[in-house]
Amino acid sequence: MKNKIFIIMIAIFFINNIKVNSQTNTTDYSKKPDEFVYKGIAFYQLPYSYNSLEKYIDKETVMIHYDRHHKAYFTKYIDAMEGKPELQGKMEDVLKKISQYSEGIRNNLGGYYNHIMYWNIMLPGDFTSPKDKLAKAIEKKFGTLENMKKQLSDAALSRFGSGWAWLSVNDNGELFISSTANQDNPLMDVVKERGVPILALDVWEHAYYLKYQNKRKDYVDNFWKLLNWNEVDKLYEIALKNIKQN
Ligand SMILES: [Fe+2]
Repeated sequence: MKNKIFIIMIAIFFINNIKVNSQTNTTDYSKKPDEFVYKGIAFYQLPYSYNSLEKYIDKETVMIHYDRHHKAYFTKYIDAMEGKPELQGKMEDVLKKISQYSEGIRNNLGGYYNHIMYWNIMLPGDFTSPKDKLAKAIEKKFGTLENMKKQLSDAALSRFGSGWAWLSVNDNGELFISSTANQDNPLMDVVKERGVPILALDVWEHAYYLKYQNKRKDYVDNFWKLLNWNEVDKLYEIALKNIKQN
């Protein structure tokens, strides 16, 4: 009898242990990731939980994209900065003279910077159109908001391989749409169409493949439903101020 009770107790202990282990191995998608610091520098914090974009971008894609891809660009850039004080200023200043640096710095700083803009301008909510000044600038350049969205979507869909589509402001304060390969962006002095980006659309497969597979168009169409125009409005105001100061 005593032996039977002992065996049952051991069995209960193992079952509970398996439960605890399986729970601790499960990512809690409803929470923001913990702060990550590498060599004394804090990684960009996702402003929402992994499952916040779930309707159009699944939580697993957000987690892998942010926690692995974006973080890898960050750590590699921090590694590259070691012993190079000229890289430790504002990211925008380094990007504007990126031709002076290695391919590794170009790709990893570009990757770190581009993804920050991409995450910041998304959030499901009632942000369906740009306001005042930006709305007028879009109308002036593209005729309608729908036309601008179509042109930017076309740029995203025609990007061969991996890259980005952008809405940016040029030196004259005018809006323009462009697309860049890999982790390049319009700030860099190596791209054809230069300016200050205010809207970033990631069209690397890692941004959508789990949910959309090869249907990049469906991902791009749904991206507009996640766009937080409040943030794009803010970036537009900052871009105009910076252009005036230069
Ligand atoms: Fe990405």
